[in-house]
Amino acid sequence: MTARTTTTLGKAVAGLPGQVHAGQARTAAAGIDGTMVMPSAVRPISQRFVRELAHITSGKTLRAEKLYKVFGRRSDEAVRRLEAGEDQATVCEELKVTPAVTDVSFEVNAGEIFVVMGLSGSGKSTLIRMLNGLLQPTSGKVFLEDRELTALGDKQLRGLRRQRVSMVFQQFALFPHRSVLDNAAYALEVRKIAKEERFEKARRALEMVGLSGWEKSLPVQLSGGMRQRVGLARALAAETDILLMDEAFSALDPLIRREMQDQLIDLQRSLEKTIVFITHDLNEAMKLGDRIAILQAGRAVQIGTAEEILNAPANDYVAQFMADVDRSRVLTADMIKEKPRATVDARSDPGETLQTMRDHRLTVAFVTDAQQRLAGAVLDDEVAAAATRGDETIESLVRADIRQTKADAFIAELLVPAAQSLLPIAVVDDDERLVGVVRRTRLLAALGGRNSDSHYDAEEANRV
Ligand SMILES: Nc1ncnc2c1ncn2[C@@H]1O[C@H](COP(=O)(O)OP(=O)(O)O)[C@@H](O)[C@H]1O
Ligand SMILES: [Mg+2]
Repeated sequence: MTARTTTTLGKAVAGLPGQVHAGQARTAAAGIDGTMVMPSAVRPISQRFVRELAHITSGKTLRAEKLYKVFGRRSDEAVRRLEAGEDQATVCEELKVTPAVTDVSFEVNAGEIFVVMGLSGSGKSTLIRMLNGLLQPTSGKVFLEDRELTALGDKQLRGLRRQRVSMVFQQFALFPHRSVLDNAAYALEVRKIAKEERFEKARRALEMVGLSGWEKSLPVQLSGGMRQRVGLARALAAETDILLMDEAFSALDPLIRREMQDQLIDLQRSLEKTIVFITHDLNEAMKLGDRIAILQAGRAVQIGTAEEILNAPANDYVAQFMADVDRSRVLTADMIKEKPRATVDARSDPGETLQTMRDHRLTVAFVTDAQQRLAGAVLDDEVAAAATRGDETIESLVRADIRQTKADAFIAELLVPAAQSLLPIAVVDDDERLVGVVRRTRLLAALGGRNSDSHYDAEEANRV
């Protein structure tokens, strides 16, 4: 990263030392008048790049450092012995303690959904309560940017929590005798924000979660899904940049639950909060998490993206979990696409085209224009015939019926197109530019749980 980039982004931040939100970074990157201010920007800057940049300049939002929470009278002694590497079962037995969280370290990036996944009793709630200071760790530290949360006094901690962190619980925690609007405005009331302003913000938050029109209702008049939306609206109304969600969707029926997951993903696109989301449901974890930490009996046995964990489980326990995952709805076109080895221009000469295809051992070549926009594909035998005929260009050979997909499509969506055409699927960006190619063998290998399909490469090498 260049110094100038960092400075430009740094200036965009007001009031939060050392922190840049992804959303603010995007504004900064696009410049006030819409021109790019990044010195290296030749092409438009991708959202992903801007997000990554925001993380680099802001550092990490939340950080857990060797966190332990041991319940029981002799907890300190237990931590010492666990740290020394003693067997957990022995320590529990001898000291009569319950280690809920053991030696957990991780960092949460600004603007990401960080999922903590584990079975009931694995220490998830204990962990999240230490993240916002509701629970003091037996040992270890929690940092919010550069401030050590675990070193703050009660009053400071309360202040910081109100300004920065909201919680959403499984049991919606609504006040039964207050209206939906009043419930949604609750966190602001605690902060002593004037009535008009807090109702205004609560109204906007209710609108975001699709509850406009229900402001005057009481919680009892709402379905479970709607009540959880009020819980979410309350957290959003508080306008904190960090959301901690403890099994927030776990009590909901599957259909409503999926709706809430989709809505969270949707909201997150524009809000770009930093979210720690706790769940015992692996598919939910895979769907929501930018990264996932897997807790096993209080230990974070693996932290990584869904793809990383799926492809390289850290131990047998994780591997067993992964066996249940619907890979077709976790892996995306982006994850299995390959770079096109060569592309050709519709105006080029058949002889030259054929040479290019042979050089790259292609039987199918994608045709693109000068801006890399996809125009179609040509087949080698047809190009060869055109060369023999003496055609001037390959234009008349271009097949336009290419199956296309966007990079973020789940591979479940690629199965039908792959079955319909022998040609590889083209991965295009929002401007129709060709960014990759998905081969059928790669698709099948990915579904079957193979990291790579190198075994098939020789066979397939001359396809595209
Ligand atoms: N206040 C407490 N006192 C004693 N044990 C506790 C307390 N809170 C949690 N535990 C124990 O710590 C472990 C982890 O609990 P919890 O964090 O609630 O797990 P999860 O949220 O993953 O279901 C469990 O064995 C639980 O019984
Ligand atoms: Mg829990």
